[in-house]
Amino acid sequence: MISFLKSALVLGAISSASAFTSVNTNGAAKSSTSLNAVYGEPREVQIIPSVLPADFGNLGADCKRLEEAGCHRVQFDVMDGNFVPNLTFGPETIRWARKYTDMPFETQLMVSERCTDAMLDEFTEVTKGPNGEPGVVIVHVEACTHLHRALGKIRAAGGSPSVALNPHTPAEMIENVLDMVDHVLVMTVNPGFGGQAYIPTMTDKIRKIRKWIVDRDLDVDIEVDGGIKATKETIGACAEAGANCFIAGSGLFAYDDLSQGVKELTELAKEAQGVAVAA
Ligand code: DX5
Repeated sequence: MISFLKSALVLGAISSASAFTSVNTNGAAKSSTSLNAVYGEPREVQIIPSVLPADFGNLGADCKRLEEAGCHRVQFDVMDGNFVPNLTFGPETIRWARKYTDMPFETQLMVSERCTDAMLDEFTEVTKGPNGEPGVVIVHVEACTHLHRALGKIRAAGGSPSVALNPHTPAEMIENVLDMVDHVLVMTVNPGFGGQAYIPTMTDKIRKIRKWIVDRDLDVDIEVDGGIKATKETIGACAEAGANCFIAGSGLFAYDDLSQGVKELTELAKEAQGVAVAA
């Protein structure tokens, strides 16, 4: 059936606009009119705020606000002033934030190799859920000479391993560890600061990694981070290319009503995936 439809499309026998309606993994009908179609089955759209624009003097309360707004998890941007030219916080801050919310956490380690090696277990521990559920721990390929070992360590310590790539880093640097991670984070800005512009050339890197994941039948989400807004050019382009987890800092905190921001970001991503959005 599928090969018939593909050959029919190739032969132009059926106009792609009304080609077909199929059911995706979320059980939702793919929009029959949408020309957008992510490669493979669309994965669940997840909106994940970065805490960088939050009130650091009241971080726990802001995390609770994000939970109530319907965010899937919250990202803690750990910066050591070494790997990136900015400084934020350590594991104690994340441990305190856990007292305010049961929302899943993720920790992005924008820190040097020495810090990664010395503190990986502690970051894995504080990122866990309220009942010890695995939290997402993201190490940068550029900060890990022994990336395979670091990812194995996160899994062994009860965390959910993820690997991040800076904009200049080719996708091939993570091709051999794709089977070890639950997420890949494609940085769409140079890490270190919020409020920067999305780098459009990252879209092809997302598409390449998505193809590897689908063709190898891996259960891996693609996250994007940096300059993500409720626009077709940013979250739309990333979703169509294959990302399904979207980090939003300034793009979400710009909304007075955070839940409205989550709704608009989600709808644009689903539309770009070719998934029908409930009216
Ligand atoms: C930058 C951080 C991002 C940043 C995103 O190094 O990793 O998470 O906070 O902020 P926006 O969405 O404003 O680009």
